[in-house]
Amino acid sequence: MLSIVEHDYGTPARASAKLVTLTIDGREVTVPEGTSVMRAAALSQINIPKLCATEQLEAFGSCRLCLVQIDGMKGLPASCTTPVAHGMQVRTQNKQLAEVRRGVMELYISDHPLDCLTCPANGHCELQDMAGVVGLREVRYGYAGANHLDAAKDTSNPYFTFDASKCIVCSRCVRACDEQQGTLALTIQGRGFDSTVAASQNVPFMDSECVSCGACVQACPTATLSENTLIQKGQAEHSITTTCAYCGVGCSFRAEMQGEEVVRMVPNQDGHANHGHSCVKGRFAIGYATHRDRILKPMIRQKISDPWREVSWEEAIGHAASELKRIQAKYGRNSIGGITSSRCSNEETYLVQKLVRAGFGNNNVDTCARVCHSPTGYGLKNTLGESAGTQNFDSVMKADVIVVIGANPTDGHPVFASQMKRRLRQGAHLIVADPRTIDLVRSPHIAADYHLKLKPGTNVALINSLAHVIVTEGLVKEDFVRERCEVDSFAKWRKFVALAKNSPEAMQEITGVAASEVRAAARLYATAGNGAIYYGLGVTEHSQGSTMVMGIANLAMATGNIGREGVGVNPLRGQNNVQGSCDMGSFPHEFPGYRHVSDDTVRHLFESAWGVGLHSEPGLRIPNMFEAALDGDFKGLYIEGEDIAQSDPNTQHVTAALTSMECIIVQDLFLNESAKFAHVFLPGSSFLEKDGTFTNAERRISPVRKVMQPKAGYADWQITQLLANAVGYPMNYTHPSEIMDEIARLTPTFTGVSFARLDELGSIQWPCNAAHPEGTPTMHVDTFVRGKGKFLVTEYVPTEEKVNAKYPLILTTGRILSQYNVGAQTRRTENNRWHDEDRLEIHPHDAEERGIAEGDWVGIASRAGETVLRARVTERVQPGVVYTTFHFPESGANVITTDNSDWATNCPEYKVTAVQATRVTQPSDWQRRFREFSDTQEALLKSAGADVLAAK
Ligand code: SF4
Ligand code: SF4
Ligand code: SF4
Ligand code: FES
Repeated sequence: MLSIVEHDYGTPARASAKLVTLTIDGREVTVPEGTSVMRAAALSQINIPKLCATEQLEAFGSCRLCLVQIDGMKGLPASCTTPVAHGMQVRTQNKQLAEVRRGVMELYISDHPLDCLTCPANGHCELQDMAGVVGLREVRYGYAGANHLDAAKDTSNPYFTFDASKCIVCSRCVRACDEQQGTLALTIQGRGFDSTVAASQNVPFMDSECVSCGACVQACPTATLSENTLIQKGQAEHSITTTCAYCGVGCSFRAEMQGEEVVRMVPNQDGHANHGHSCVKGRFAIGYATHRDRILKPMIRQKISDPWREVSWEEAIGHAASELKRIQAKYGRNSIGGITSSRCSNEETYLVQKLVRAGFGNNNVDTCARVCHSPTGYGLKNTLGESAGTQNFDSVMKADVIVVIGANPTDGHPVFASQMKRRLRQGAHLIVADPRTIDLVRSPHIAADYHLKLKPGTNVALINSLAHVIVTEGLVKEDFVRERCEVDSFAKWRKFVALAKNSPEAMQEITGVAASEVRAAARLYATAGNGAIYYGLGVTEHSQGSTMVMGIANLAMATGNIGREGVGVNPLRGQNNVQGSCDMGSFPHEFPGYRHVSDDTVRHLFESAWGVGLHSEPGLRIPNMFEAALDGDFKGLYIEGEDIAQSDPNTQHVTAALTSMECIIVQDLFLNESAKFAHVFLPGSSFLEKDGTFTNAERRISPVRKVMQPKAGYADWQITQLLANAVGYPMNYTHPSEIMDEIARLTPTFTGVSFARLDELGSIQWPCNAAHPEGTPTMHVDTFVRGKGKFLVTEYVPTEEKVNAKYPLILTTGRILSQYNVGAQTRRTENNRWHDEDRLEIHPHDAEERGIAEGDWVGIASRAGETVLRARVTERVQPGVVYTTFHFPESGANVITTDNSDWATNCPEYKVTAVQATRVTQPSDWQRRFREFSDTQEALLKSAGADVLAAK
């Protein structure tokens, strides 16, 4: 889709079913009640001049440019703040209005630099446009009076500049920060002529609460707030709509382009997941795509101690294929496999699993969702019948009580968090269950009703005690359960959770949460109207991850909180395409659409479509691949876009497994940690360089569109296709749309999905089928996907990872807003200015006991390994719990995490590791070895040749 200009109807749409008819400039207009006169006019192509109004924000009425005449009303009311009324007669143009508007503009322009020709906003400045619209020809006051033309610029933010000399004090930025982002970092300081925009207590933007979401930049009608790239490069000449490649919110953006160069990423107002909002990653952190560290030539080597050798694509692919065939001939068909990535598109992951099943002849394919949301798939499939969240994001605007369990939306899913905060500011209740005091617990105008600050590893104990209250206090929605759920399973579950051992009083010793708090929270969830649960990796990454997901589904069913807007069970997916990579059959036991490989009918369908016999036995999961590698049975691995050496638990175990393999093929943008153990490197493409689709946490399939040619020559799907052909399984796609057509043909929940349909609708939430040709925003409406909802007994089983005298603290891990997962992308951007190292959060009490002060180096030892980080002493964590992020490889957070995993899916227990923390003065042994190994690998890379790296 090519367009630069987006419509702006001036004020937000209203959803009222009641319609109002009025007349504007002689035209009869019918709009929903509550619509502004300005919007009603714009909808009938009458554009009233405006400066302080924009569709993204509630009207404010400060600029007085949008005045109109309305019969029967005194004076000249502002059309942006005046709601329509039945029979209203409005005039938007006459001599008096024209004079008043010109007068307003004269005042603005008399205090504005007249440097339009060199201004970065030239051509898209609303002030400039309005001067034209009102016919401004002279400024009677001259330009010599008191003005702000010398006001200083704030260049502290690496991505945008605040040039106060151009500010017209329209307050759009302030309102964007308040209403859209919910950070409330900006104010208008001073009065009258002295009014200025101030960040926090009038400090530079970088020193304020600003989280660099860009909403104020987007809202600013002048060049006062401008992207630095726009200032440096000038304006774009075309734009292409695509989808952010960072998190599972799946924000839609217009990539504004000059030829093949991105000028800026502008959040798309029509984006169904983000409605014109963004965060610092998707909006600004795309520099990695053109970073000098990118490897642009294929490379091979025999041993990981050899220098890399730059080769042609033909040689690299031929070598990779012959190695894989050699290994299979020597060690057997099951000795190789593949790992897909949630970073890659649906089409790419589909091709990798097809290559493994049809080309390698086994089911040894797994995905990084194994280490994050595999319990979601298992838990929701077995209770509700579908491995996905039940709602769209907009549903939160109808929730009356929001329950956030083990998720940190303001850091992990920022754009959705802003929407959630909007609903909370409107008055919805909030319950947070988290070992840490996440920002949501208390932020401007928001305070959680209950923060259930449980001990890590006790989720299931908590959910059972919440359920106990609901069952024993008569809070079950009996009608819903009787009509919609399996009554036998409910009876069994009811009996179980009603047991005294599951009461909040009995469980408080385990969870650390006061029984009274649990009782009150359960009552609130069950009785406050629409109850919506949002959860994250704090639920899944446990030894009882799947049990907890089932416990959440049980709770939603028992209270009737499923099957309509405002309720539901909503996993917040980490990466951009976690949902999609699972949907596409990346698991060793499932074909696309979550159909088991042992199902003969399904297997025959794929056999006939792919023209090859397929195996009915599930293949190896990632941890099984490591075990088999260490046993000498698994020797070859194709990894597309994933960095298991950094992201998977127990790093030393992972690297030992990688070292024991004979051919590791890594397809990626950078020489990541896994690539340091590789024998073949195939340079991949960024999301800007390919066509495809991502599926976000709402099951929303969104288009990803190529805005530049692949820098290394091929898009990732093409590389997989080359490899498939080389191993002897023919693939002949000419465009990713053909891959999607095949997915849609073979996957019932994708029926009718195509690139053309996505372009037409913008996005589609699966299931998409004959009954729901435009997709399904809310699932399980009249009936559950599995028919009747199934309750499952969720016995609390404590993790085997116990604290003791040697390891008395529990380490839990998480993410931060400015960095993303293993950091391969964000570490190569200015986002490092916000977070340039992983730190260990430790409670003041624990710190004092150990003589640890803020900033000290702290050794963290677990049963798996030891690393060293600097301390952040904070009460965000509770005594006995320490916390860190894992964005920097040298931190070695996963050197400490153990092999413990979810009983059903092997999802690692990242969230509970028993550790000791001590003050130290030097890096750990592992860190020293890591540094040496990394330096060696960097040196071996440099020897590959000058052309390998983009600009080194
Ligand atoms: S910075 Fe921009 S949006 Fe904010 S008050 Fe000034 S002109 Fe308006
Ligand atoms: S970038 Fe976002 S958080 Fe920062 S001031 Fe602007 S709107 Fe507020
Ligand atoms: S919220 Fe997620 S999808 Fe949206 S811009 Fe940020 S990282 Fe991208
Ligand atoms: S646009 Fe209505 S008062 Fe500014």
